[in-house]
Amino acid sequence: MAYLISIDQGTTSSRVTLYTERGVPLRNAGRPLTQHFPQPGWVEHDAEEIWQGVLDCLRQVLDESSLSATQVAGIGITNQRETTVIWERSTGRPLHRAIVWQDRRTAPLTTQLREAGHEALVRQKTGLLLDPYFSASKLNWLLANLPGVRERALAGEICFGTVDSWLIYRLTGGRSHVTDLSNASRTLLFDIKALSWDDELLELFDVPRPLLPDVLPSTACFGHSDAPLLGAEIPITGVAGDQQAALFGQGCFQPGLAKVTYGTGAFVVLNCGACSTPGEGVLTTIAWQLPGEPVCYAQEGSIFIAGAAVQWLVEGLGIVASPSEVEALARSVPDSGGVYFVPALSGLGTPYWDPQARGVIAGLTRGSSAGHLARAALEAIAFQTVDAIRAMERSSGLTLRELRADGGAAANNLLLELQADLLNAPVVRPRSTEGTSLGAALLAGIGAGVLDPQRVGEHWELEREFVPRLTDQVRERLYRGWGRAVRLSLGWED
Ligand code: G3P
Repeated sequence: MAYLISIDQGTTSSRVTLYTERGVPLRNAGRPLTQHFPQPGWVEHDAEEIWQGVLDCLRQVLDESSLSATQVAGIGITNQRETTVIWERSTGRPLHRAIVWQDRRTAPLTTQLREAGHEALVRQKTGLLLDPYFSASKLNWLLANLPGVRERALAGEICFGTVDSWLIYRLTGGRSHVTDLSNASRTLLFDIKALSWDDELLELFDVPRPLLPDVLPSTACFGHSDAPLLGAEIPITGVAGDQQAALFGQGCFQPGLAKVTYGTGAFVVLNCGACSTPGEGVLTTIAWQLPGEPVCYAQEGSIFIAGAAVQWLVEGLGIVASPSEVEALARSVPDSGGVYFVPALSGLGTPYWDPQARGVIAGLTRGSSAGHLARAALEAIAFQTVDAIRAMERSSGLTLRELRADGGAAANNLLLELQADLLNAPVVRPRSTEGTSLGAALLAGIGAGVLDPQRVGEHWELEREFVPRLTDQVRERLYRGWGRAVRLSLGWED
């Protein structure tokens, strides 16, 4: 029996899981990650803390199992995407805190580029939009604001990477400066059809080429862990951004299958097969590339605040003690009583793409309560998901027959009930809601040659299906109210 290790480095925590070669989880370990908010709209992580947390988890999982590192056939890595790290090539020392995907500090640059008419080029090459969400403008900011770094970058002394690349660099003792296609496709610097870094885009964002990692397919050999770190050299054989890994882990291998992962944000991803045509308001992105197969593309709806809206009810407002109590509070009322909460706490993503949008609570009356607000927060997650799916359906011409749900908040039955009601389509929950981690393990298993790509879907098992119950009239009335509240939030900050 061979074993696989999956590293899932997310926005708020890092988790490591040991799996059998058939994708059965055996052990896991996790570490929370400190969030730094140095200014309004800025979000940073300490890259060293990310690495140390992952390393601690790897060691804990190996220590607690009776396995030796030599029994692990491959490591899979999946990660929060777009988050931008730069470090010194010779020492592996980060030169600044990582700028997190949610960070809006570079909105002036992306707005300026859009106003100068560059969006069409960016869209056609990358499948993305000019938004501060992606890595390129963050990297531009670092190069412009850290003294001497641009010169050192030109001299090849500095590395840029998304979090996968950063972890691989440290895990391999600095021997591999690489990333995978799915993470590269989130930088705004990568041509998703030519499958290479693009000179025109590098010039647009003023990024020197020597900074960039090599880009490999999803199940390549990305390097081996440095023997002293884990007791043996373990190959890193699978890498994918967390949303692409979740699509894989959810068994969405055919075009037309889609999943939503409810984490800090919520991300709807639809398998589009070989089709890389950009759609209006939605992102086109690389899902994965398996051995001997063409690249698989996906459309994505990116919702910046989902679970974080619930977290805000707990930490920002203090109306409930913990996220796990939100479902009970929301169930204490039969409906949201006309209250809408647009959690545009980091601007709005798909399909609005407005970094100036701000959060709105609307429709309050004298009778509104904490229960209504809690329910409105769950509805907001569902409404945003519907907005994203409708935009995808418009641009792909496909109609979604069901939505596979995973991520932490997929455990919330009320959320999935609301999601099915507002989407007017069944929402299904698999037995394992850890699609992201599982997806990385499965990719690593294929890369290590212990898993047959043809049998990779066998692990997916239905746990529960949520079916829509609302009449068209009620659903449309609720959706109209949501639209009014969204309009209030757009363009709020001048
Ligand atoms: O694009 C950002 C996304 O990859 C972050 O996912 O699960 O860490 O919130 P998560």
